Amino acid sequence: MLASEAVPLAKTGGLADVVGALAVELTRLGHEVRLVLPRYRGLEDGPVALRETHRFRVPLRHDHVEVALETGTLKGDKGPVVCVRYDPFFDRPGLYGDAAGDYPDNLDRFALFCRAAIEACKELGWAPDIVHAHDWQTALAIVYLKTLYQSDTTWTAPRTLFTIHNMGYQGLFPPAEYPATGLPAADFTAGGLEFYGQINLLKGGMIYADLLNTVSPTYAKEIQTPEYGYRLEGVLQTRKDRLFGIINGIDYDVWNPTTDAHISANYSQKDMSGKKTCKTALRRELKLPQRDVPLLGMVSRLALQKGIDLLVDTLPKLLALDVQMVMLGSGDALYQAELTNLSERFVGKFAVRLGFDDGLAHRIEAGADMFVMPSRYEPCGLNQLYSLRYGTIPVVRKTGGLADTVVPYLPGHAVEKATGFVFEDAHPEVLLSTLYLALQVYRDKTEWADLIKRGMKQDFSWKRSAKEYVALYERALVETKPAAPPDRDTFPRGRFR
Ligand code: ADP
Ligand code: GLC
Repeated sequence: MLASEAVPLAKTGGLADVVGALAVELTRLGHEVRLVLPRYRGLEDGPVALRETHRFRVPLRHDHVEVALETGTLKGDKGPVVCVRYDPFFDRPGLYGDAAGDYPDNLDRFALFCRAAIEACKELGWAPDIVHAHDWQTALAIVYLKTLYQSDTTWTAPRTLFTIHNMGYQGLFPPAEYPATGLPAADFTAGGLEFYGQINLLKGGMIYADLLNTVSPTYAKEIQTPEYGYRLEGVLQTRKDRLFGIINGIDYDVWNPTTDAHISANYSQKDMSGKKTCKTALRRELKLPQRDVPLLGMVSRLALQKGIDLLVDTLPKLLALDVQMVMLGSGDALYQAELTNLSERFVGKFAVRLGFDDGLAHRIEAGADMFVMPSRYEPCGLNQLYSLRYGTIPVVRKTGGLADTVVPYLPGHAVEKATGFVFEDAHPEVLLSTLYLALQVYRDKTEWADLIKRGMKQDFSWKRSAKEYVALYERALVETKPAAPPDRDTFPRGRFR
């Protein structure tokens, strides 16, 4: 399992939650999983004790560099982690960039990581049945297996699954950087990594993987259209019989109001009294007055994807009502400024915290009455799932995984099945009227309690989704031809030599 981030080691967003939890669940199901990550700065003080086990040389541009493998075990014996250590690339303050923007050598960084991950299998004497790579950062591993390693007879080539978490991040680089990939010029074509003159790593993964998936059935359909495909819809259409949608699960140990150590009081469906305590504590933490009014929450990357502009345009009218809202976010400087302005204009009603704060994210999920996600697109989204679990009613736009996981409250129409509020048009007035509806239902204590109860009963644990991944792995093993002829004597599959 190759990824650029995974909980509990490194996280900037939902990718980390998903990869970390999926690896653990697959291990629990009895599979032999190696989670491979770059060895970022700070991991030495992290929750996994890492120990250097191997050193070897890996090709990089016209040279080789020496990398180290550091291995450790996820707490509770939940499976091994392998980190690729190359300090000039990964001993940096950020995962992908810093305040000045993306690191200019990201292509070199992740090309080296992918190459080293494959070489690591050989160093470890371990040939996986499946290489499962996530997002553009690890797409080259899939390309390498089907090109540079195609005729490698020392092992049974693994089958590959590529998971697309977000079409908005494709790993685009100027063509002059192509030598960093180490690939032959023949792969820089319209049928390969070339994309309107640039290098596109996501496209590479999409073309070379045996099977593809994304993180919800609706998003799997959406990305085959120009609106959501970001100019790769044509490529996806050609592979549509190999493209699947699997809804993300959530880690029920980490996100559990009954045991959550980040929140002021624990609670459960049976005894919700702790949720009130959490609401009071959240107001205190964010310096909002203690008033008996609905409290809305949001935790988000501040990016166009998340519909922050819709929220900004809606807030003045929303905050004219007797409500309060708390927001935690990091990202785009423009949105940061707009949200800060609004918090200064609506003191005591709208509180903003800028930055990344895992504990506060939990406290918002627990303390808020409603959770707002007006995403312009959302491959899956995890916060609406956390919200359901925490008895916090999601108000979401009908797109991607949000459409697949929140059952809309429609007055007079099967309200007994509803778990949240859903709107379709990405327009501030439509968001506003949906929030009005939610606030109206909030006043009906019985109706609201029913919504909470239904939401908390939903099952979005990894159990189901991990099994769907296993089914895809099996399908890849059965349906796709191996990239290289099997040679079990020299490199047995799934076993140490
Ligand atoms: P995405 O991966 O697109 O950002 P998801 O909803 O899948 O969206 O996952 C976001 C994850 O990152 C959630 O676990 C959420 O709680 C967390 N998160 C986002 N922004 C912050 C923040 N500023 N501080 C703490 N956690 C955050
Ligand atoms: C991406 C998506 C988000 C998804 C997450 C994990 O970052 O934006 O919707 O939940 O990946 O799959």
